[in-house]
Amino acid sequence: MNAELPDRAAASEEIVVFKDVVKSYDHRPVLDGVSFTIRDGEHISLCGESMSGKSTIFKIIAGLVQPESGEVRVFGRDILNIGEREKQKHLQNIAMQFQSGALFDSMTVNENIMFVLDETRHLPKKEKQGRIDHLLKGVNLLSARNKYPYQLSGGMKKRVAVARALAPTPRLALFDEPAAGLDPVTSARIVNLIKDLVAEHQMTIMVSTTDVQLAMRFSTRFILLKNGHVHADAPWPELRDSDDEYARKFLSRALNA
Ligand SMILES: Nc1ncnc2c1ncn2[C@@H]1O[C@H](COP(=O)(O)OP(=O)(O)O)[C@@H](O)[C@H]1O
Ligand SMILES: [Mg+2]
Repeated sequence: MNAELPDRAAASEEIVVFKDVVKSYDHRPVLDGVSFTIRDGEHISLCGESMSGKSTIFKIIAGLVQPESGEVRVFGRDILNIGEREKQKHLQNIAMQFQSGALFDSMTVNENIMFVLDETRHLPKKEKQGRIDHLLKGVNLLSARNKYPYQLSGGMKKRVAVARALAPTPRLALFDEPAAGLDPVTSARIVNLIKDLVAEHQMTIMVSTTDVQLAMRFSTRFILLKNGHVHADAPWPELRDSDDEYARKFLSRALNA
């Protein structure tokens, strides 16, 4: 039993369940029997070296990648066996910020976020704009609201992508390396914005990262991937103090970096 988790989590609803999930690319298994359970309100860090399969796991949760075998349930639904229409509905319950952070090139920053809000929430326009202002302020981009993606730096685009992912405040939010490539100040700002919104709306979040410092700020629990498996699944102090040499090294190397 996980000491860091409140009892509430033990009894609460399963949000994401992976059972023996296998996914290969070009006959090379990336996920080779991955199992874990995430419950309502948990904050999880998905850790592992680069190419360990973190992004692949997110894409499977979002129904964008189909594994060869295993079971995946999200909000209790078997998402590997649902139709296209149901899949679209499914996607509306998940906020995603992918590593590539693709924005719509033909829309301004403000329009990019408004588009997502229009798709998923039925709020008065004024309230939507208020939410956008709050988000853009959080990522320090209010002054860039009327700019197009080609006018932004890579770091700015990433910040817009994070703001856009959080805009509809769905129950489950997936952040794929949200701070990679950002300077420490911007990275801290994004972490705080995500934490505030997640607390405010009681979202369940998964954050993928190779950055242990960032992971510690986000999460109650680490899921550490290695060789296509869940190598460890525990709160970080437990990993740090464990006999597991790989987990200890992963943590300490990153902490001393
Ligand atoms: N669409 C794809 N086609 C072929 N190989 C892929 C594809 N997506 C991911 N991979 C491979 O799967 C492995 C894991 O990738 P990924 O899930 O992106 O890991 P991570 O996010 O941990 O860096 C990598 O070796 C990557 O090259
Ligand atoms: Mg990745």
